[in-house]
Amino acid sequence: MAVVLAAGEGKRMKSKNSKVVHKICGKTLVEWVVDAAGSCGIKESVIVVGHRQDQVRECLKERVSYAVQEKQLGTGHAVMQAGEYLEGKEGHVIILCGDTPLITSDTIEKTIKYHIENKYSATVITADFENPAGYGRIVRDENNNVLKIVEDKDASVEEKCIKEINSGIYCFNIKELIRSLKELNNNNVQGEYYLTDTLEIILGKGGKVGAVKISDPDEILGINDRVQLSRAGEIIRSRILEMHMKAGVTLIDPKSTCIDHSVKIGMDTVIYPGSYIEAGSIIGEDSIIGPNSRIVRSTIGNGTEINNSVIIESTVGDNTHIGPFAYLRPGSKIGNNVKIGDFVEVKKSIIGDDTKVSHLTYIGDAEVGSNVNLGCGVVVVNYDGKNKNKTVIGDNAFVGCNVNLISPVTVKDNAYVAAGSTITEEVPENSLAIARSRQVNKEGWVTKKGMQRVKKK
Ligand code: UD1
Ligand code: CA
Repeated sequence: MAVVLAAGEGKRMKSKNSKVVHKICGKTLVEWVVDAAGSCGIKESVIVVGHRQDQVRECLKERVSYAVQEKQLGTGHAVMQAGEYLEGKEGHVIILCGDTPLITSDTIEKTIKYHIENKYSATVITADFENPAGYGRIVRDENNNVLKIVEDKDASVEEKCIKEINSGIYCFNIKELIRSLKELNNNNVQGEYYLTDTLEIILGKGGKVGAVKISDPDEILGINDRVQLSRAGEIIRSRILEMHMKAGVTLIDPKSTCIDHSVKIGMDTVIYPGSYIEAGSIIGEDSIIGPNSRIVRSTIGNGTEINNSVIIESTVGDNTHIGPFAYLRPGSKIGNNVKIGDFVEVKKSIIGDDTKVSHLTYIGDAEVGSNVNLGCGVVVVNYDGKNKNKTVIGDNAFVGCNVNLISPVTVKDNAYVAAGSTITEEVPENSLAIARSRQVNKEGWVTKKGMQRVKKK
């Protein structure tokens, strides 16, 4: 079982939102923590919520249980609120902080193992920090045993020099935790009930307290402000990027590439600089993404190229070219061997295999068949000022340049539409539709009217 403390306000974030719902690589801080606990087999997590608890509940929903801390009277007080879940339980509980998203399941697992093997009543994860300011310090006796934790604000000058800090992550024997919480007081600089004081109480009753010092201090970086948020973001991002590179994805410039959590990318795909692939996206093998592309919750096939484009909640098939400067809006489904060229916008439309939409086109609420050619400047006029209407274009159709298709309308299979037409009625199969006025040439008009455009000297 895990208890995650997430009731604090996080004043230093300077935010209207709960600190723990700020995101890194597409996932909230508190979810990073809950997931780390989950992936080392901890089945039950209790989240202590308070400040903006609506937001925390909204992102974790029914995955976890909640304990409410009405007033944020300190970390010890926060754990007390989870009492109903701990009461009567045997074994150990892991206490985590919602603002420490870099913790890995590996470290949690090792800590539990160490705690059990050494029969400790409490085990705290620590690290040596070059700059320990702001953190609680681990005070040890001459035999190197943990004596207590002293908060930065309560520390003496000598204690402030201690570099070993408290991560805020612990493993406790449940019974001894409950017993020691009952004895906490708030006689300290901040007037709070400190969870850290339970260690001294446990030792006083003859319990054993251990510490696991981890070598990678990054893992326990606590996020209190936006500077730390961006530092933690950098670390998580590079963990994700390295994972993809090790799985066979080429990143031309990792520093300018962002890939969210749970994105899948196939082998030999190359990602150019300035690309952002957001959570839930799947990209196939041998594809080229970027430069400067954003892919949001979309699926991209194999051998497909996405160049300087934005793709949102859409699907793109194999061997297809998108961009440069294309915009695929939600609900678009692009087939195989398709070309969606420059300044083309597609919204909630299906584009069949082998179809070409090469330049300057808008397609909205349409079904376009396979092997269709849409010329430059075709506009699907899907909105009549009141309703969005549907356009259907059959297989092998050819729609000339600068055509308006006034929806709802259908262009049947194998039909042609002449350039410059405004189509309001169905175009039958195998026919050519011309919907524009005929050209009139007025011979000699310019000289007759004296309208020659002679360049002045
Ligand atoms: C805490 C530790 C400190 C440690 C540091 C590591 C205490 C007294 N201090 O300090 O030793 O070095 O974490 O990051 O435990 N919270 C509640 N309710 C409260 C107070 C806090 O839920 O009443 C939650 C916060 O939302 C946060 C976590 O507990 O997720 C830590 O609280 P925070 O105020 O950030 O503690 P620190 O001062 O950083
Ligand atoms: Ca903190």
